[in-house]
Amino acid sequence: MKFNTIQLIYFSPTHTSREVARAIAKGIQLPIGKEIDLTPASNATSIEAENTLTIIAVPTYAGRVAQTALDRLKIIKAHQSPAIIAVLYGNRDYEDALIELRDTVNELGFIPISGGAFIGEHSYSTSTMPTAPGRPDPSDLQIAKTLGRKSVEQLHIYGSTSDIPLLEVKGNIPYKEKKPKTPASPKTLKDLCTRCGFCVEICPVEAIQLKDEIISNDETCIKCCACVKQCPSQARIFNTPFTEFLFRNFHDRKEPEIFMAE
Ligand SMILES: Cc1cc2nc3c(=O)[nH]c(=O)nc-3n(C[C@H](O)[C@H](O)[C@H](O)COP(=O)(O)O)c2cc1C
Repeated sequence: MKFNTIQLIYFSPTHTSREVARAIAKGIQLPIGKEIDLTPASNATSIEAENTLTIIAVPTYAGRVAQTALDRLKIIKAHQSPAIIAVLYGNRDYEDALIELRDTVNELGFIPISGGAFIGEHSYSTSTMPTAPGRPDPSDLQIAKTLGRKSVEQLHIYGSTSDIPLLEVKGNIPYKEKKPKTPASPKTLKDLCTRCGFCVEICPVEAIQLKDEIISNDETCIKCCACVKQCPSQARIFNTPFTEFLFRNFHDRKEPEIFMAE
C-alpha cells in the first residue's frame, strides 16, 4: 500500500477535534503533507486524497456528526486511500456519530482502517458548571497517538486497501433521528465587549456581524460556541439549560474507545 505522507482534515470550532487529529498524527512516523481545516466559513475548495493516509476528526452534535462538518466533508474525493477517523464528544455520548462518519468517509472513497471516539470539553461547559474540563488531556492524547501507531501497523498487514474489511464501530443504523433546530445563539456582554471583531472572524458559519454592537443570527448559528470559548474578553455567553443538565448528569469520566478494521 502506497502512502508517503499523512493529511489531516478536521472541522473543529472549539479545537478539540483538531487536537486529537494532531495527536493521532504524532503517532505516525510520516511527514504531514497537508492540514486542512474545514472550520472557517470560506475554506471550501476541492480536496483530493491519493497515496496518502488521511486523519479525519469531527465533533458529535446531538449524537450525530455535526451537520456543517458533513456538508464540508463532501468536497473531498478520495481514491480508495486509507483513513483514520475520530469523533469528539463532550462526555455525554457519541451515539451514532462514529458509524455515520465511517459511512460518510466510505462514500467519499476512503477506506477506514481505524476509528476512535474521544472526549473533548463540552462546548456548553462553563467554569462554574464544567463538563469534561481540560479534555482531551495527556492520557487521551497518548491514546490518540497509540491509535496512529497501531493503525499503520494494521495497514501493513493488508496488501492493498481493497483487502481491508469494513471497520466495525459502535452505533446504530438507521442513525438517531435529527430533531428540528431550535434557533438560538450566544449573546454579548456589552460591558466586556471591545468590538474587536474576533468572533466575527472565527464564526464557522458567518452568523455574527459587527454593527453598532455584535449581533448573532439565531437562524444561522450552529451553537458551536467557538465565539464563547475564544472571545479574548470573555464577552460572549451562551445561556442554555444543557450546561446545568450536563454538569449534573455527565460528571463521571468516560474514556476513549478505539476500533480497528480486522
Ligand atoms: C450543538 C452541539 C451538540 C452537541 N451534542 C453532543 C452530544 O450529543 N454528546 C456529547 O457528548 N457532546 C455533544 N456536544 C459536545 C461536543 O461534541 C464536544 O464539546 C466536542 O469536543 C466539540 O468538538 P470541537 O472542539 O472540535 O468543536 C455538542 C456540542 C454542540 C455545540
